[in-house]
Amino acid sequence: MNTPIPPDDVTSRLQAASPVRAEPDPTTKRTLGRRSFLKGLGVAGAGLVPATTLLLKEGKALGREFRRGLTLGDVNMLRFLAAAETLETDFWQQYTELGGVDGGNPAYIAALENIDGDMPQYISDNTDDEASHTAFLNAFLQAVGAEPVNLEKFRTLPSSAATGAKQIGRLTNLMTLHVDTSWYVRYRSKQNPDFGATFPQAVNIPQEPGIPISDADTPPMMTQPVPPVSREQQRMQAIANTAAFHFATVEQGGSSLYGAFIPMATSKVVLRILYAIGGSEIAHFQTWHDKAGNAVAEPLAGVTDPETGVMFPNLNAPPFGGEDFQTNLIMPEPCQFISKKLPLCSIIRPTRRKNAGAVAVVNFLTTMRLFEGQSQEFFDTLNALAVAADKARRQVEDEEDELLDNLFGGD
Ligand SMILES: [Fe+2]
Ligand SMILES: [Fe+2]
Repeated sequence: MNTPIPPDDVTSRLQAASPVRAEPDPTTKRTLGRRSFLKGLGVAGAGLVPATTLLLKEGKALGREFRRGLTLGDVNMLRFLAAAETLETDFWQQYTELGGVDGGNPAYIAALENIDGDMPQYISDNTDDEASHTAFLNAFLQAVGAEPVNLEKFRTLPSSAATGAKQIGRLTNLMTLHVDTSWYVRYRSKQNPDFGATFPQAVNIPQEPGIPISDADTPPMMTQPVPPVSREQQRMQAIANTAAFHFATVEQGGSSLYGAFIPMATSKVVLRILYAIGGSEIAHFQTWHDKAGNAVAEPLAGVTDPETGVMFPNLNAPPFGGEDFQTNLIMPEPCQFISKKLPLCSIIRPTRRKNAGAVAVVNFLTTMRLFEGQSQEFFDTLNALAVAADKARRQVEDEEDELLDNLFGGD
């Protein structure tokens, strides 16, 4: 793609000039047939040959292979995911600068290591994974002739002033997080949000930093004993505990998002992308679920932030404990799935579009205050990508597969 075009124009451009199938009209639930498909390409009948030539010239060899069976909905889902992964990469990078394996804030690293000695390594690895997801999705989009997602102009939020943080513009804000911890109860429950279930918070974290915000607030060279003693040590441990819950909160959302997109996808290569990157998000979630539990178990349990009052209780002791809260029950409890008439099943949940799709994810991240301070244009851009992605519908028609075989030579 040589000529940059605004994201808003990508839909019309794809409909006009790339072998991407248009979406069916959702009001009629009609699936596009061969004739409509050709119309969607901007060609009909005798126009096929020149249009094909144009497509082959425009697409690189790699793109032609991967455009087989690709729908506009597939592209819009990948574009939203490219945006979401860009945002994930941005906040994980902030965690890495301060608390990763080469992180620059020793007291923060010590507080993270109080939760688990592997925290800095896992933070760095998770960051690398998100950067790879972003780069891959944008490169794939480019390869198939679609517009990649670039959010660089929204890199306007300030960095933390604490030792270790680079002073560069950020896309996300980790300094006043509202962390939704209801996933902790959800994954221990036999109920499923896709059947309407709701869950209480495991820990109330209404407004708390996930990273140190300044050296005056949390001196970077202080020791970090368990339990924390001084006001600054308590504050730093509460910040690290918030990070541990925030990691799992975001990654479970990502796990559900990819799961929600899979039934909406048409192209086999897009299905592979969604399953395989989604699986990586699940691996992250499971890891962080285990670590978050350490922040609310002996010997670390009971930390209170003297600044905000946010408290991390012992979830293994009354009034908590039992199957709803026990910290080492980290594997998904079997729950309702597909139909209440079927047996309970251990699964990722929710995965229905209204609960876990793109619009739901934007709302989830906004409520989290991850975008606090961002411009209206930022929210408009993200919402437009989300709305377009959620319109994707799976389209499978053998005659279209046959047509694409003829166009591109099959497998
Ligand atoms: Fe990711
Ligand atoms: Fe992730």
